[in-house]
Amino acid sequence: MSDLVRRLMVTGGAGFIGSNFARLVLAGDGLEKLVVLDKLTYAGNLANLEDLRADPRFAFVQGDIADGTLVDELASDVQAIINFAAESHVDRSIEAPEAFITTDVYGTYVLLEAARRHGHARFLQVSTDEVYGHVPTGSSRESDPLSPRSPYSASKAGADLLAMAYHVTHGLPVVVTRGANTYGPYQYPEKLIPLFITNAIDDEPLPLYGDGLQQRDWIHVDDHCAAIDLVFRLGEAGSAYNVGAGNHATNIDLTGRLLALLERPASLVRHVADRPGHDRRYALDTSRLTALGWQPQVTLDDGLAATVRWYQQHEAWWRPLKSGEYLEYYRRQYGDRLAAGTVGA
Ligand code: NAD
Ligand code: DAU
Repeated sequence: MSDLVRRLMVTGGAGFIGSNFARLVLAGDGLEKLVVLDKLTYAGNLANLEDLRADPRFAFVQGDIADGTLVDELASDVQAIINFAAESHVDRSIEAPEAFITTDVYGTYVLLEAARRHGHARFLQVSTDEVYGHVPTGSSRESDPLSPRSPYSASKAGADLLAMAYHVTHGLPVVVTRGANTYGPYQYPEKLIPLFITNAIDDEPLPLYGDGLQQRDWIHVDDHCAAIDLVFRLGEAGSAYNVGAGNHATNIDLTGRLLALLERPASLVRHVADRPGHDRRYALDTSRLTALGWQPQVTLDDGLAATVRWYQQHEAWWRPLKSGEYLEYYRRQYGDRLAAGTVGA
């Protein structure tokens, strides 16, 4: 954690990456105060922070990053903000985009304004590789134009650009990270890896979109969090940093690896109707990040094996999540698709 920043606010810290990040920074001794602000949407979960709650440096506030009064009060007592809070699932942004605009775009604006008013020493916006859009060949550099293609990635691109504008216009010391597809413990079971692991454990079908040949660059959450910590400390104000581990895999290949780890048959795979506007490929040039001294530590083989083990050993964490609103969402998203799907290898 930055030598200058002793009091930090992390927004969205009850979600997947934010909770892993909170654990990382509290394992060190750099902070005297860590405030987690989280609305606790369907994706936020206090159980993700359970082991941190006894730490005297830790404070949890349930609230909305779009609530200007609350954010201003909390911002007055910290020196920096790292903004993880977002609606984060592409499929939900296709079905119901409004919350993506109010949280990802307007909420980020509220945080930036508060950081500016209180003269913060740092503002880190957690962005995504999806802002570059589909990348048919080669890899995206930070200077490439943003070309988002889903309501989710467009809302994240809006926030990313707004954060940069606060650096240019107001001199706010903003840094932006653009991370690749992240996996690991505490990921809500709507995203590909935890969905497929938990479905396979229950011998339920795995709904693979389209031909399954879409490519992603997979990074373990520990590596992603270490990169965010490094960029927070050493990144150049006004700059973006790509965060990817170079683990390129097609969805069908990844699915096969998960099934092998779980000792489940390929017949669980269902080829289903594709995601509208589905980006075929993301790939990142990470030379700007590696120049700061970062290298990924977790191989895809080790990370997937550890993640499968974690979900096998933490049924008490994920089973309660697969109920209520989740099941309604699952029916809307997959009911017809699965009924019309074909069994695949
Ligand atoms: P997540 O959905 O698991 O967590 C998001 C958290 O934000 C939840 O705890 C939720 O309650 C909270 N939140 C949502 N709206 C809020 C609001 N209005 N006010 C306060 N809190 C609110 O997401 P994640 O996968 O942990 O992603 C975290 C960040 O990283 C997001 O900004 C996402 O865009 C970005 N990102 C994610 C990935 C990935 O693969 N998961 C990759 C790159 C970047
Ligand atoms: O690239 C970074 C992004 O990665 C983050 O910004 C997002 O917050 C995060 O959700 C993730 O977006 P993706 O859309 O790539 O992740 P998801 O897990 O939803 O899907 C991964 C791939 O798997 C994608 O090509 C779609 C496919 N897929 C996904 C689901 C949920 C399926 O084939 N079937 C599914 O049921």
